Formats: sequence, structure tokens, C-alpha cells
Amino acid sequence: MTAFLNGCFLPLEQARVSPLDRGFLFGDGIYEVIPSYQGVPFLLEAHLERLRRSLSAIRLRDPMGDRGWRDMLEELLARNPGGDRAIYLQVTRGVAPRDHAFPVATEATVFAMVNPIQPPRPETTAQGEGAILLPDERWGRCDIKAITLLANVLARQMAVEQGAIEAILLRDGRLTEGAASNVFVVHGDVVRTPPLDRGILPGITRRFVLDLLEGHSRPVFEEAVLESDLRTADEIWLTSSTKEILPVTRLDGQPVGAGRPGPVWRETLELYQRAKNDARGARVAESGDG
Ligand code: PDD
Repeated sequence: MTAFLNGCFLPLEQARVSPLDRGFLFGDGIYEVIPSYQGVPFLLEAHLERLRRSLSAIRLRDPMGDRGWRDMLEELLARNPGGDRAIYLQVTRGVAPRDHAFPVATEATVFAMVNPIQPPRPETTAQGEGAILLPDERWGRCDIKAITLLANVLARQMAVEQGAIEAILLRDGRLTEGAASNVFVVHGDVVRTPPLDRGILPGITRRFVLDLLEGHSRPVFEEAVLESDLRTADEIWLTSSTKEILPVTRLDGQPVGAGRPGPVWRETLELYQRAKNDARGARVAESGDG
């Protein structure tokens, strides 16, 4: 697999970063995960917009610029052809003697690689997955896509150790999000997800799903979701660039609704798959390489 590091494309195994990199020493950096279907990045503009927002939030100058990111991503995909991929890209504040305060005149470290997007297991689509509820013990700026993910790592590990796919997090009795996903709940035909604030990541998939539902006149609300709403939901979904829309059918070992992936999930996933295919078709038609 070919990766990108500081201006060069090279085999991933040969990519090297100094132990003095501030990403390594402090988790001082941000990242993005961008899905790409058959070589075409999906919702690229929204991902680049969030990348710029993350950089600005940690006071790091954009080291590549809009054209630079687009050209690099295009070449990275061309060098890793075929299939569905999740592009991972990371920017840190670079290599400098260890000191908490920002270094002066240090170049940012820019790294990118691709990983295959695993299609959901047939059991997931047929039966759904389990999730657990945990207290949200993360910092106060979860709206920044920071690489500093220790609390997310510990929460997700707790889920895995209990045979679940995700930890769903609660702060003061209210849903925030998953350890690596946004969360939607369905009661009857009404869909809800928590509103954006500094406590959750503005997920690109979340926004896209909201727009899809609104476009199809489905009642959908961005409003507070309580622990009791989760425990009485007919359906719970996780959304992310790699999970797309995933049905949770067991919460802390108890069935969610009927304990099977629900009809609103099914309908929404269908809309999502159609939009994905349309977006890809449009890009291919535009570039004329059918
Ligand atoms: N994570 N919330 C958190 C904490 C996340 O880490 C993610 C995605 C999301 C969903 O965001 P989006 O729809 O833009 O992917 C929400 C990525 C996939 C990851 O860390 O690998």
C-alpha cells in the first residue's frame, strides 16, 4: 500500500516519523476519515471543510491548501487502485524539542493512507449489533476531530470486551455520541439525534442522513436524547464514514424495540446507498471516463 508523508508517496512500511513528533508526544494534531467508493471520494467538500475547521480550532495553519489536498488525495487513490477505501489523513504540529507550548517555525507533519472499507457482515444487516452505554469521560472540545482519542479508545475497548460493536456515551443523562460514531434514535416514525455542540463531532454522515430524511419528508429532529429515550427506542442507529448506517438491536444486552433492524433504518439505508451510487455516477460522467 502506498502512503503519503510530508510531500512524498512511499510504501507504508517505509514511512517514518520522529519520536519528537508532537502527535506522538502530545496527541497534538487532527485527522479526517474520508470514504471513497471505486476511486471516487464521497462528500469530499464536507470532509475538507471539517479538516480546515479542525486545523483552525487547534491554531494550525493549513499546510496543503484546498488544491493541495485534492491533488494529493487523487494521487493517493490512483496509487492504491480499486475497491472501496477509507482515506485516513492526519496533520500534527510537527517535530520539535518537547515543550507543551507551540514550537516556533516548525513544519506540520502530514500523513495519509488508505484502508479497505469492510462491507457490513451479513449478520449485521440481518440481526443488527450490540452496543453498551457508558459515561462520556472525554474533554470539552469533542467537536474537534483531534487525534487525542484515549477516552474513545478505552470506551470502545469496553464495548468489544462485552461483545458489542460500540460504546454509546452519556453526559449528565443525555446522549452525546458513540466512541467513533454519531447516534440516531427512532420512536414510531420520528427520528432524533442530539444537536451539535462542543460535546460531539459534527459527523459528515450524520449531516448527510439528516438531509436525506428531510428531503423525504420524514419527521426528524436535532434535539436532546435522554438515557430513557435510548432504553425505550424502537430503533437505534450508528452513523460514520466507515460504518455508514448501522442498526443497534441490543443495548446493554437488552433488545432494542423488536430486537431486529427496523423498517426506518432499512428505508434510510436504501436512500443512502442510492445517493452514494448517484454521487459516484455523477463524478464518473463529469470526468468522462465512464
Ligand atoms: N470516526 N463521532 C466520533 C467520535 C467519530 O470518531 C466519528 C467517526 C463520528 C462520525 O463522523 P463521520 O460521519 O464524519 O465519519 C462521530 C471515524 C470514522 C474514525 O475515527 O475512524
